[in-house]
Amino acid sequence: MNEHDSSKMMDVLTDKGYKGTQNIEDADLIVVNTCSVRHNPENKVYSFLGRLADLKKNNKELIIAVAGCVAQQTGKQILDRSPVVDMVFGPDNFFELPQMIESVKNGQRVLMTEWRDRTDGNVQNFIPEQWIEAGHADGPKAYVAIMKGCNNFCSFCIVPMTRGREAYRHPENIMREIHNLVDKGAKELWLLGQNVNSYRADNRGFLELLDDISKVEGLKRIRFTSPHPKDWNNKLSDLMAERPNICNHLHLPLQAGSNRILKLMRRRHTNQDYLDKVQYLRSVCPAAEISTDIIVGFPTETDEEFEETLNMIKQVQYSQVFSFKYSPRPGTKAEEMPDDVPLDTKRKRLERVIKTQERINEEKLAPYIGTVHQVMIDGRHPKKPDIINGRTDGHRPVAVKGSNANIGDFINVRITGFHAHWLEGMQEK
Ligand code: 5AD
Ligand code: SF4
Repeated sequence: MNEHDSSKMMDVLTDKGYKGTQNIEDADLIVVNTCSVRHNPENKVYSFLGRLADLKKNNKELIIAVAGCVAQQTGKQILDRSPVVDMVFGPDNFFELPQMIESVKNGQRVLMTEWRDRTDGNVQNFIPEQWIEAGHADGPKAYVAIMKGCNNFCSFCIVPMTRGREAYRHPENIMREIHNLVDKGAKELWLLGQNVNSYRADNRGFLELLDDISKVEGLKRIRFTSPHPKDWNNKLSDLMAERPNICNHLHLPLQAGSNRILKLMRRRHTNQDYLDKVQYLRSVCPAAEISTDIIVGFPTETDEEFEETLNMIKQVQYSQVFSFKYSPRPGTKAEEMPDDVPLDTKRKRLERVIKTQERINEEKLAPYIGTVHQVMIDGRHPKKPDIINGRTDGHRPVAVKGSNANIGDFINVRITGFHAHWLEGMQEK
């Protein structure tokens, strides 16, 4: 979502005459787009701001902004703590960048963290018309935010506080953005939302919207993130199986394997509900790859309950597991619980999740050898000019040797080997 927001900020700034640079010393404006979902990324913001102080000494005109969830959450504290910062604005305010820049040029320090007006209800076109037309694809890939915010209030999660309540765009407005992006060369679209499958607007739910989008001519791949397990259903699995351009990849955050912990997390599903949905998907779409997010060391989690998380990981056979040590976040329900799992235990549990997943991955990758997959090329190897990178339909990274395909091309690749996190292959002639 932050990449999406940064890309929209780029559209706004391009319109004001700014150009992107790879060299931070050349910048006239630096926007630090922040994440506060866990404690660590938040810490990084302050250390990064410390590094920017020298740049400001060398360039008095340099404007430094802090955007995103940390900005929304800590607001004025950032201005107080970091004198180098000229403006602070939240995830709802980035379309107001031109006015904020003017204020800074007039000598003010700016704080803008108001929620945009939601009085027209929770269905609203929160991407202004002008920026739909201006939207660009980042190479063959582009992001489309179909909804924003979250109403779930999982007990560990700060997102409902930093991104506000759910708001959904009108389907017609989303479809216009999608047609615009496909006309401009996008081949793979990522539908985004904090809780993407809770989308509902004008009698269309996520299923109907996905169905409409999958019929857009020229759109070769559709991905979405992140769906909530409680709002995933068998009809969505059927649609994924049926439509070739809905990619066979589901990122379905599990968070924990024990029902007692899931309840304390307020996830509103059991481990069995989750397994049933996964099994159905696998039965109709055997090629589906499933990835997840796991939190270890949630308050009061016992060793036995943690074993249930490992059990779920083994049963589901994920393609990728993003695992995190629990950290209390301000304003959440879980913050009121004792953070009673020692850091060392959290570390050990995290290590076991990683090791378990590594073994699963090895078993899952070996059968890829010799098979042929369609790969969308999305980059080049930074050091080896004869290698290009891409992804399979199931979102597995592939390094391709001996091909002169270009970024955005779809090529057939025969898999010849695998490493811990990626496959290796040759283009089929
Ligand atoms: N502590 C640790 N991990 C967290 N996540 C969200 N909040 C916390 C927290 N307080 C993880 C969840 C979520 C992912 C984006 O970050 O696993 O799915
Ligand atoms: Fe956070 Fe839960 Fe909403 Fe996901 S569904 S953004 S974890 S509150």
